[in-house]
Amino acid sequence: MALSSTLTAAQGGTGLRLDRLTAADATAVFDYCQDPVFERYLTIPWPYLRSDATSFIAGFVPKGWASDAEYTWAIREADSDELLGVIALRLPSGSLGFWLGAAHRGRGLLPEAVGVVADWAFSTGVTDSLRWECLVGNTSSARVAEKCGFTFLGEVPAESAYRDGGHPLSWSGRLLSTDPRTPRPGWPWA
Ligand SMILES: CC(C)(COP(=O)(O)OP(=O)(O)OC[C@H]1O[C@@H](n2cnc3c(N)ncnc32)[C@H](O)[C@@H]1OP(=O)(O)O)[C@@H](O)C(=O)NCCC(=O)NCCS
Repeated sequence: MALSSTLTAAQGGTGLRLDRLTAADATAVFDYCQDPVFERYLTIPWPYLRSDATSFIAGFVPKGWASDAEYTWAIREADSDELLGVIALRLPSGSLGFWLGAAHRGRGLLPEAVGVVADWAFSTGVTDSLRWECLVGNTSSARVAEKCGFTFLGEVPAESAYRDGGHPLSWSGRLLSTDPRTPRPGWPWA
C-alpha cells in the first residue's frame, strides 16, 4: 500500500496516533484479548493464544495491507508507544472493526479513532462509505457509531461469520463521506 499507514488526529481530541502493529505489541494484544467481553462480541479465536497474537501481527495484518483487503492500525496516544487498542477497515465493504483494552474504555478514544480513519478513507478515496455492525446488545460499540454520525440501518444477520460459522443478528450502520459527524436520530434507544 503506497498510502501512509500512520495517521494522526488533525486537530483537537486527545491526540491519537494510528500506526502499524509491531512484534513489540504481541504481549499487549495477547493480554487484552483474554477479556471475556471479546469472547462475546468479537470473532477472534477463543481461547485466545499467544500464537494468535503473533500470527495476527506478523501474518494477518501485513497481508491485509499488501492486498488492500484490510487496513489495520494500532491505536496509541500521540506521544507514547503503548498499545491501547486496534481499529481496522475492510475493503471493498468499508466495514470497520475495533476494540480497546479494558483500561482504556470510556474516554472517547474510539470515536476519535473512527473519525481519523473516516477522514483518511474519504480523503484518499479508498471508499466513500463506511459500514459498522455489532452484535445486538453491544451498546458500547453502537454508541461509538452513533457519536460518529452513522445512520442506524436496523437489525440484520452479521456480515462476518462468528466462531460457530453463524451470522447472528446484528445492529448495522453506515457513514457516507457527505454525512455530518454528529449523532442522528433512529438509534434503538433514541
Ligand atoms: C466498543 C469500544 C471500542 C468503545 O470504545 P470507547 O473509546 O470506550 O468508546 P466511548 O468512550 O465513546 O464509550 C462508548 C460507550 O462505552 C460504554 N463505556 C463507557 N465506559 C466504559 C468502560 N469503562 N467499559 C466498558 N464500556 C464503557 C458506554 O456505554 C459508552 O457510551 P456513553 O458515552 O454513552 O457512556 C470498547 O467498549 C471495546 O473495546 N469494547 C469491547 C470490544 C468490542 O465490543 N468492539 C466492537 C465490536 S463491534
